[in-house]
Amino acid sequence: MKKISVIGAGQMGNGIAHVFAQGGHEVTLIDIAQDRLDKAVATIARNLDRQVAKGALTEEVKQAALARIVTSTDMAAGVKAADLVVEAATENVDLKLKIFRDIDAYAPKGCILATNTSSISITRIAAATQRPADVIGMHFMNPVPVMKLVEVIRGYTTTDTVTTAIMDLSTAIGKVPVEVNDYAGFVSNRILMPMINEAIETLFQGVGGVAEIDTVMKLGMAHPMGPLQLADFIGLDTCLAILRVLHEGFGNPKYAPCPLLVQMVTAGKLGVKSGEGFYQYTPGSKDLVVAPAFAK
Ligand code: CAA
Repeated sequence: MKKISVIGAGQMGNGIAHVFAQGGHEVTLIDIAQDRLDKAVATIARNLDRQVAKGALTEEVKQAALARIVTSTDMAAGVKAADLVVEAATENVDLKLKIFRDIDAYAPKGCILATNTSSISITRIAAATQRPADVIGMHFMNPVPVMKLVEVIRGYTTTDTVTTAIMDLSTAIGKVPVEVNDYAGFVSNRILMPMINEAIETLFQGVGGVAEIDTVMKLGMAHPMGPLQLADFIGLDTCLAILRVLHEGFGNPKYAPCPLLVQMVTAGKLGVKSGEGFYQYTPGSKDLVVAPAFAK
C-alpha cells in the first residue's frame, strides 16, 4: 500500500492525508477545487507544526511528510496508480455513489476502495461498483491525527483479505483498528448520536442549559467535551444526517432527530464550521461562549 489517494480535502480528508503521509505513504489528495486543496495542505502543515512544537516530531520528519503529499483536481489521474483510495467526501449518499462509480472506472485492478462514511451502508456503496468484494469502511475519528480509533466496517461482500489489509495498515500508521459489521451507524455512531440527540432533547425541554448539560457530562462522566460542544465540533448537519440514517435504517422512533436540531440546521447554525451552533466561535479564540439563542 505505497500509493494512497484520498478524495475530499475537508476536515476528515486532510487529517487522513496527514496520518498516511506521516506513516510513510505517498498521498494524492483529490478535490474539485484547487483552493480547497491548498487550504487542506496548509492545515496539515499547521497540525504537523503542533507536533514539532511538542517534540513529538522533528522538523525533518515534518518536511518529509509534507513532501509525500501531492494534490490533484483530476479524479482519473489522481487514482490511476493507487493501491488504496479512501473517500472522505461530504456525507451525501448520491455524491458518494457517484464518486465510487468514478473511482471504480479509473482505479487499477486490485486497488482497495475504502470510504470514511460515518453511517452510510458500505454494502450499498460497494454495490455501485464492479468490485464490491474490494470495498470497505475505514472510519477515522476527528481530529484524525489525535484520535486512535479506526472503525473498520465490513460490507456484506468484503473479503477477509481486504479486511486484514486495512486492519494491518491502520495499525502500521499508529491507529487502533476495530472490526465491525455493516448496520446503520456501525458501532460508533449508533451509540454516540443517540447520546447527542438526548442532550439536545434535554436542552429543548428546558431541563438544563447548554453549559449545564455539557458540564454534567464533562465533569460527571469524564468526557473531554460535553455532547453539545461535540455536536458543534462534528457539525450539526452531519449529526442530523447520521440520525436520519439510524431512524430510517431501523425504523425505530427512538432515533428521531430532536426538532431543535432540525431547526438549527435549517437556520444554517451548523456549529464550528458556520461560526455558531450551541456555542459561538471566534477564529483564533478558544473561549467557549454559549450562543445568544441559548444565553440566559
Ligand atoms: N492535529 C494534531 N494535533 C492536534 C489536533 C490536530 N488537528 N487537534 C488537537 N491536537 C492535539 C493538541 O496539540 C494537543 O496535544 P497535547 O495534549 O499532546 O499537547 C491535544 O491534541 C489536545 O488539544 P488541545 O489542547 O488543543 O485541546 P483539548 O485538550 O481541548 O483537546 C480534543 C481537543 C482532542 C479535540 C478533545 O477535546 C477531544 O478528545 N474531544 C472529543 C473528540 C471526539 O470525540 N472525537 C470523535 C468525534 S466523532 C467522529 O469523529 C466520528 C463521526 O462519525 C461523527
